[in-house]
Amino acid sequence: MTLGFKENFLWGGALSANQVEGAYLEGGKGLSTADVLPKGMMSSPVIPPEGDYPSHTAIDFYHRYKEDIKLFKELGFKCLRLSIAWSRIFPNGDEETPNEEGLKFYDDVFDELISNGIEPVVTLSHYEMPLGLCSKYGGFTNRKLIGFFERYVRTVFTRYKDKVKYWMTFNEINSITVMRFTCGGIIPKEGENPRQLSYEGAHNQLVASALAVKACHEIVDGGKIGCMINYGCVYPMTCNPLDALDALDKDRRTLFFADVQIRGKYPNYQKRFFRENNISIGISEEDEKILRENTVDFLGMSYYMSRVASTDAEHLEKAEGNIFKMVKNPYLKSSEWGWQIDPEGLRFSLNTLYDRYEVPIFIVENGLGAVDVVEEDGSINDDYRIDYLRKHISAMKEAVNDGVDLIGYTSWGPIDLVSASTGEMKKRYGFIYVDKDDEGNGTLERRKKKSFNWYKEVIESNGEKL
Ligand code: BG6
Repeated sequence: MTLGFKENFLWGGALSANQVEGAYLEGGKGLSTADVLPKGMMSSPVIPPEGDYPSHTAIDFYHRYKEDIKLFKELGFKCLRLSIAWSRIFPNGDEETPNEEGLKFYDDVFDELISNGIEPVVTLSHYEMPLGLCSKYGGFTNRKLIGFFERYVRTVFTRYKDKVKYWMTFNEINSITVMRFTCGGIIPKEGENPRQLSYEGAHNQLVASALAVKACHEIVDGGKIGCMINYGCVYPMTCNPLDALDALDKDRRTLFFADVQIRGKYPNYQKRFFRENNISIGISEEDEKILRENTVDFLGMSYYMSRVASTDAEHLEKAEGNIFKMVKNPYLKSSEWGWQIDPEGLRFSLNTLYDRYEVPIFIVENGLGAVDVVEEDGSINDDYRIDYLRKHISAMKEAVNDGVDLIGYTSWGPIDLVSASTGEMKKRYGFIYVDKDDEGNGTLERRKKKSFNWYKEVIESNGEKL
């Protein structure tokens, strides 16, 4: 028997504040960590920023959100995942009172979504935080940030509790192990062990995330709050038991974050990892209690690619990648940016995660970054994007029929936006084209691509018509 997607399945798209809003200093906003990252330098800030930074103007969603939301409505979106820029609410991060203009901006955006029948799904911190928390306090390695984060989330829960019911804490929280600055505002000083800093920051974020879960449950009536991990299953390169063990180990580097947030405690394997890597984390009894008592309601995840583990030196030498260094899978094709395309891996991943946790899963990012060509007649024929999404949604449907409790799917960047890893505009994910190039030229005009009508029909038919 095939089951298909639930009736109230949350179809939509996903954005982040710093990749769409622009207006980086308007409305009383302070500088954020994203505002000091030059193009393609995910972890090398320049403070103060000089020149042209992608987040400063982005696609000007700050001024154009009404027009964009109208297009999302036309697509039939049930929800839109977006994030709040923490630095619009607390410009330096450590103020006692929030910035009213910032709060008002998101009030307007949420009202606009709701009046268009679109449910807001909100990430509290998507690859950014007030820069002041980095320069003055050293980022998330400092426990004081737990308190600042808690103040921020309590403020937004209280303000938006009647408008927003779906929340997520830290975007791709596991990425802090490789992108310390982007995820945690951490800049290692000479002689400091970067890995130690990453896991200290991670621990403080895990505690902060659990406190956000607590606050959400206290403040938002009927609210649901999830974690958000960047996940891709890990295949062993061969059936050599050593490759299989390596795959297990690599998988655990990610699962650790979901284990803590869903099961409420540090797993034993992670303690061994800390011991063997000279990492020592001060976990107090109070922290343990907070983690234990405040687990998330659902698992949010992004899925772009699967991974391969190998213990063979020859394969390792050829490993490459973007956020995570990877061994190439010879059975898969790659995108123009070298990200390997694996729809079956999505089915595999969903089953793995659901077997392990048995909590509802929400795919909050997935999609293809590609170069689009505007034809002379103005059309954009992005069949490659349709093909990618069709295969991933089919795989997702298979996973649902396998028994996975999937509550929604928001494809990444339904409107073209600035790439997080490269700062480029030409790495496009959207159903809606934005006229802007990598040098910042263009009218910012929005234009529907071929995939626009295709995705509209997918939503209309609740995933039956692919
Ligand atoms: C995810 C991030 O890792 O990947 C997004 O949460 C990001 O912010 C997306 O944009 C796609 O990556 P990129 O580098 O193509 O923008």
